[in-house]
Amino acid sequence: MNDFEIVKKLLIEDRSIRRFDASKKIGADTLKELVELTRYCASGRNLQPLKYRIVNDKEECEAVFPALKWAGYLSDWDGPIDTERPVAYLVQCLDTRLTGNLLCDDGIQLQAITLGARALGIGGCIIKSFNVEIIKQSLQLEDYYKPIYVLALGYPVEKVIIEDMSGKPDADVKYYRSPDEIHHVPKRPLSELLIQTPFAKHEE
Ligand SMILES: Cc1cc2nc3c(=O)[nH]c(=O)nc-3n(C[C@H](O)[C@H](O)[C@H](O)COP(=O)(O)O)c2cc1C
Repeated sequence: MNDFEIVKKLLIEDRSIRRFDASKKIGADTLKELVELTRYCASGRNLQPLKYRIVNDKEECEAVFPALKWAGYLSDWDGPIDTERPVAYLVQCLDTRLTGNLLCDDGIQLQAITLGARALGIGGCIIKSFNVEIIKQSLQLEDYYKPIYVLALGYPVEKVIIEDMSGKPDADVKYYRSPDEIHHVPKRPLSELLIQTPFAKHEE
């Protein structure tokens, strides 16, 4: 497999995972290695203003969990049961002492972390819907740390597959879970991602 094929394979396998094996822990060293990947990411103005709070202690994990909102499209699912909850979190925070103006560093870094995690067999779910106050208080974060995302992590116990939306003009972007418990994620085809105008010139 060449480098491009490796990157593509990891991206295809890097699906959002929301059900984990709660008995398989992730050590702080592994979590630090994942955070280290963000050092190599592009950064607007090269300010590198994002910091990470590692959470893998049982009590802290229990304190973080109620702050999170899971899978908005799965309206009849309240999130993972006890035995399938994340075993670790990385709370991505903006260090407002460095800047109050975050560009797209957050997404770039989250992708780097989830790709690295995937390469280690670890699954993750990027979570934006969370209660900031619960996170700040339960982790005793200083006021200058502004939580931006919570990344839930663990070893997957669910299967997630991509559904190709090509040729289905009415296809819904909503992910869904089939009766066999497989999570399906619709993705638009390449042809829909390319802007086609009479003025777009391509060279093969
Ligand atoms: C910016 C962003 C915010 C997200 N917030 C949440 C969230 O609050 N809760 C959740 O369960 N999933 C969240 N997700 C996961 C998305 O639902 C998921 O990426 C999407 O369904 C596509 O699935 P995929 O990641 O497997 O491609 C978020 C993803 C992104 C990129």
